[in-house]
Amino acid sequence: SHLSGEHPLHSTGVADSPMLKALTGRQPQHRPVWFMRQAGRSLPEYRAAREGIGMLESCLTPQLAAEITLQPVRRHKVDAAIFFSDIVIPMKLAGVDVDIVPGRGPVLGAPVRTLEDVAALPELEDSALDPIREAVALTVAELGDTPLIGFAGAPFTVAAYMVEGGPSRDHLRPRTMMHADPEAWEALGRWAARTSAQFLAAQVEAGASAVQLFDSWAGSLGEADYRRFVMKHSAFALQQVEKYGVPRIHFGTGTAELLPAMHEAGADVMGVDYRLPLDEAERRLGGGVPLQGNIDPALLAAGRTALFAHTDRVLEAGNAAPTHVVNLGHGVPPSTDPTVLTDLVEYIHTSTRK
Ligand code: CP3
Repeated sequence: SHLSGEHPLHSTGVADSPMLKALTGRQPQHRPVWFMRQAGRSLPEYRAAREGIGMLESCLTPQLAAEITLQPVRRHKVDAAIFFSDIVIPMKLAGVDVDIVPGRGPVLGAPVRTLEDVAALPELEDSALDPIREAVALTVAELGDTPLIGFAGAPFTVAAYMVEGGPSRDHLRPRTMMHADPEAWEALGRWAARTSAQFLAAQVEAGASAVQLFDSWAGSLGEADYRRFVMKHSAFALQQVEKYGVPRIHFGTGTAELLPAMHEAGADVMGVDYRLPLDEAERRLGGGVPLQGNIDPALLAAGRTALFAHTDRVLEAGNAAPTHVVNLGHGVPPSTDPTVLTDLVEYIHTSTRK
């Protein structure tokens, strides 16, 4: 095996947990649920732990990253932890000048727009990932039978921040670059794919039992451009972790038209955003694909009655898939009342228990 003898996936507690069962198409005891951005500003204990400490520094302090990863598992009894880190951490560890500006997102010191800019990018040294390995090891030591999900940003989403130099709405610059300077785009896509693959491998080797590739902004692409300029880079990142045998989830927003291509890129489970009902997603995928999703985050603030009625519809549509991991259609909004999330987890567990 490519995993150490002590890896959590070798324990039956993790391997037969509801989360791992659903990710691998086996029927779980209850429908597993976790939330993208379950760690974060919705939790008072997160705000306390982060007091006076920058986002990137928090991610690179192993004890703190482990503690923040564990907080939502303790509080909400979710079926999986997601490693507390960020899609820009691999570029930070490679030596790229990047920071996360509160309320805004990742901002680079200098955007990456030409072939020369790409050629000047530093490579990520494997030893630079040691704080990540340490944080993952500390986390899984505390998690018991609850699996840890590792993640990385998909090459397009990462490259979109690099080319824009910061967050943008339409990702015009990277979409222009593909056509105007395909050589520079190709080199950047390969850099981002290598770097994301290294980040994923480090988390899996240190104890993550599943991975999720976040292509949050892929929905800004048409299918033709996705297939021509993006898919092979995501496929590379997914292929690099295939040898570990951990389930690979692929998620993006606004990807209704891209689901089959994103699945073809090499995913085992498809994450679906809130815009497309799961039964329709399954139909577009041709059947047989485990799905993850897709409670509308807006419903978290709509009151329990509306939220649970919406959840019933999501669970019902999820029956169209061989197995279903419940999640939101995108991340937990920072303003969310955390007691709503705790109650939602209990509601999903009790209404789906076999
Ligand atoms: O709980 C989890 O989901 C795990 C941790 C996680 C974070 N970022 C923590 C974080 C994960 C998986 C990510 C991935 C990530 N980062 C994505 C893909 C997922 C998605 O949401 O689409 C993207 C696009 C980023 C880039 C990024 N980082 C943005 C847009 C922001 C928000 C900036 C803001 O202040 O609103 C960040 C910062 C960030 N990453 C926060 C967290 C908890 C907020 C930091 C804070 O508390 O101030």
